[in-house]
Amino acid sequence: MESAPPIDPDLLDKVINLAKRRGFIFQSAEIYGGFRSTYDYGPLGVNMLRNVKQAWWRSMVQLRTDIVGIDAAILGPPAVWAASGHLETFTDPLVDCRKCKERWREDKIDGVCPNCGSTEFTEPRAFNLMFKTQAGPVEGEGATAYLRPETAQGMFTNFANVLSTVRKKPPFGIAQIGKSFRNEITPQNFVFRTREFEQMEMEYFVAPAEADHWYRYWIAARYEWYLGLGIPEAMLRLHEHAQEDLSHYSRGTTDVEFAYPWGWDELEGVANRGDYDLTQHSNASGTRLEYFDQAANERYTPYVIEPAAGATRAMMAFLLAAYHEDVVEGESRSVLKLDWRLAPYQVAVLPLSKKPELEGVSKEVLALVQPHFMCDYDVTQSIGRRYRRQDEVGTPWCVTVDFDSLEDRAVTVRDRDSTVQERVKIDDLLSSLRERTNER
Ligand code: GAP
Repeated sequence: MESAPPIDPDLLDKVINLAKRRGFIFQSAEIYGGFRSTYDYGPLGVNMLRNVKQAWWRSMVQLRTDIVGIDAAILGPPAVWAASGHLETFTDPLVDCRKCKERWREDKIDGVCPNCGSTEFTEPRAFNLMFKTQAGPVEGEGATAYLRPETAQGMFTNFANVLSTVRKKPPFGIAQIGKSFRNEITPQNFVFRTREFEQMEMEYFVAPAEADHWYRYWIAARYEWYLGLGIPEAMLRLHEHAQEDLSHYSRGTTDVEFAYPWGWDELEGVANRGDYDLTQHSNASGTRLEYFDQAANERYTPYVIEPAAGATRAMMAFLLAAYHEDVVEGESRSVLKLDWRLAPYQVAVLPLSKKPELEGVSKEVLALVQPHFMCDYDVTQSIGRRYRRQDEVGTPWCVTVDFDSLEDRAVTVRDRDSTVQERVKIDDLLSSLRERTNER
């Protein structure tokens, strides 16, 4: 097994600190002391998270003719979760420390209480991770509802709706991005494992005989997606689950793993779910969830290949991989070397000074660029400080407007990674920026 590349032991703290200081991720309800490992995404974080989801949607839906999207409800009736197997089996082994009474997930603590060091625990019991609530004003059995613990079931319960409305045939997929909720026993490591998180999942329905081919295809495609958005190869690997570790629905699962500061861990899972889900929902609902292949005159239940990623977890991985410290012109800086598609701002328009003469042309430049790129506009502090601030949040290009701009109708474009500056005519600015997006 390959070892994880050497990582700065303080990397996680540095990224958490940066995320808070610069408005990526805040602790939720912080003014009340925070709330149980929930997080809010701030002005920069919301841009970046949207970019992660957009990059996924673009590769999974926009650039394909075989995959369509949906946006299903978060609340669901017990029947869905009984059929999916979650009511019975979506559990983690819960133990109590006999000494300090803290509760832990047994498979995550190696027999030693992380709180007090005791090795005495209660017998493990199955703890269901789903959040239960009630729908409507009357309590009781009929009102029970669950917050979805995965987005996947919305694709299965809508299988027949999608098939009849968009006329796809296997192999075809249904994609969804949205919030999921799990009452994790031990949420940990910032936004790596939280109780409320966002998933990006796609269920790809295929003829059973082709399932293995598509399983391998999606493992490779998903690995490439992270590489293509700038995660170095040395920080990614594939890990195939042993048969005995598979989820209740899976015939095979391979994780795309990332080298987190604590070691290799899951980034995304690609599973061959077989015909488990469609069969379960067909039996439980009485609606046949099958495909009729007219050419072969044959009816069958498609197998499902599922690449299941976390949007919030992926954002964390992109931040960790992008964080660098280097020295520029004798000054140390921290820089997020984010792919331009993921950066919270792609362009910062920076008037050299606050003098009113520069405002007109600066606003003109902003108005030119803003419809095409997410822009920041900053007139505070020295230009050097402003470059550092933009480097720190990953802005790939700073466009500086100076007094010469008034005469020559040109601006300076500074590249985040190389720090090279180039004088560009305002008339050519958009095409120059567009060229730079292709270079990366
Ligand atoms: N539909 C299959 C499924 O949900 P999973 O491996 O449990 O599979 C898929 O979840 C992905 O969702 C994970 O690889 C991870 O990126 C993300 N994820 C799962 N639980 C999470 C949590 N508690 N916090 C943040 N992300 C989570």
